[in-house]
Amino acid sequence: MSGILLASAAFIVLIQTACSAPTGGSSATSAKLCVQLQIPVPVAADQYHYDQPQVNSNIDAMDWTVNVTTWDMADFTARQTGTVHVDQTFNISAQLCVPSKKTSKADILHIATAGQGFDKRYYDVDVQPQEYSYVDAAISNGYSVLAYDRIGTGGSEKPDAYDIVQIPTDIEVLVGLTKIARSGNLISSSKMSATTKNEAPTIQEYQPTKIVHVGHAYGSYIMSIMFEKYANLSDGALMTGLYVNYAMLNNSLTVLNYNHAFAKENDPVRFAEWGSGYFVLDNKQTLQKLFFQKATLDPALLDYTESIKQPESVGTYSSEGNSTLAPAPGFTGPIMFFTGEYDNYICNGDCRGVYDESLTNTLYPNAKSIAHYLQPGTGHATGLSLNASAGYEVMLQYLDSQGL
Ligand SMILES: *[C@@H]1O[C@H](CO)[C@@H](O)[C@H](O)[C@H]1NC(C)=O
Ligand SMILES: *[C@@H]1O[C@H](CO)[C@@H](O)[C@H](O)[C@H]1NC(C)=O
Ligand SMILES: *[C@@H]1O[C@H](CO)[C@@H](O)[C@H](O)[C@H]1NC(C)=O
Ligand SMILES: *[C@@H]1O[C@H](CO)[C@@H](O)[C@H](O)[C@H]1NC(C)=O
Ligand SMILES: *[C@@H]1O[C@H](CO)[C@@H](O)[C@H](O)[C@H]1NC(C)=O
Ligand SMILES: *[C@@H]1O[C@H](CO)[C@@H](O)[C@H](O)[C@H]1NC(C)=O
Repeated sequence: MSGILLASAAFIVLIQTACSAPTGGSSATSAKLCVQLQIPVPVAADQYHYDQPQVNSNIDAMDWTVNVTTWDMADFTARQTGTVHVDQTFNISAQLCVPSKKTSKADILHIATAGQGFDKRYYDVDVQPQEYSYVDAAISNGYSVLAYDRIGTGGSEKPDAYDIVQIPTDIEVLVGLTKIARSGNLISSSKMSATTKNEAPTIQEYQPTKIVHVGHAYGSYIMSIMFEKYANLSDGALMTGLYVNYAMLNNSLTVLNYNHAFAKENDPVRFAEWGSGYFVLDNKQTLQKLFFQKATLDPALLDYTESIKQPESVGTYSSEGNSTLAPAPGFTGPIMFFTGEYDNYICNGDCRGVYDESLTNTLYPNAKSIAHYLQPGTGHATGLSLNASAGYEVMLQYLDSQGL
């Protein structure tokens, strides 16, 4: 087993430009206007049922981990015991923010998908937002941003963690959200649950002309699979925490390298809504191991990460072998891979000199441009590490240089 979740070789096996410096262009004085939305998203996806231990306690969570990583146990493909056709509408919690003053880029919508362990707050950090909030950075560069909670996280619906919350469903939620956004029905089709934290007036309607997909880690991974089939939904992509590289080939981290606890046992109050099959990274030490490097770690951000951490479904792991990175010839926009220089998760601790350019080019043969950039000194969670805002400028400057 392998891939980005359990870690990793598959995504390399299967498929068997540097960027200019930022110009610091956040001089615009736009504040953000935000609305909180509960968006009904129709989803149709073909998935499988997998034979795997149930997770109903901390002991089960560790048992599941050992069971699925035992060297001579069946891999997940061999554990398929039947098909599951998902055909239903899910409530997805999202935040739409636009610049308070009309800007030339306000019609370009960034749709942001967080990685495993996070919800949309990854993109709108409450601690020192001027330094860490991607939403604030994008807004001050004139863009609009839709950040949402993946299914099974945050305020979105939390259906069956074995058969429903799998990779194909995650992808179709993103596809559905993108189509709704493109059609201009984001607000009219949703229940608006609250206005902005900053008491700004409500947004009445919003229709983007262009959409840029932004992802972190697993979020970037599902975007890439989406581009294989639905490339024309995207005008450009910023992939953070995903890096096709040689280091992971023989040294990939697996789920055995980090600890999960049963979500409801880890915090019965906070995770009361998450049932069987939802586990969560157990403590701050595990979060540090996966997401940070000490030199760029502000301990306050480690505390924050612990306070916003989100459960993961076992179904996303078990479906991994059935969803793999393959070429997306239909993707014609610009795409940037932005990764921490010392990303432990995706490069086994060091991303320098291991970028697999030819494989990346194979994946996106018709991209307008492919850029890759290592953010100095940081680990996997570039958005929660020191100097995050300078990294955001690199990404946003890249988009600007590509006409977005
Ligand atoms: C691992 O889990 C599978 C499926 O639940 C079970 O059949 C198998 O016996 C377990 N293996 C071990 C070593 O416990
Ligand atoms: C979905 O959201 C609507 C509107 O807020 C609510 O009435 C409904 O109960 C929700 N359904 C589920 C399954 O959460
Ligand atoms: C994308 O392609 C599909 C199928 O080819 C087509 O139905 C759809 O209209 C296209 N969407 C856009 C935004 O071009
Ligand atoms: C990975 O290990 C195999 C077997 O030891 C070896 O042949 C291969 O060269 C290694 N690949 C890398 C990228 O180190
Ligand atoms: C997913 O599983 C089905 C059934 O085993 C198989 O036919 C299909 O090739 C798999 N897809 C991928 C991408 O592995
Ligand atoms: C902060 O990030 C920017 C953009 O990647 C980089 O140019 C700069 O060197 C970084 N500063 C430090 C101290 O690492």
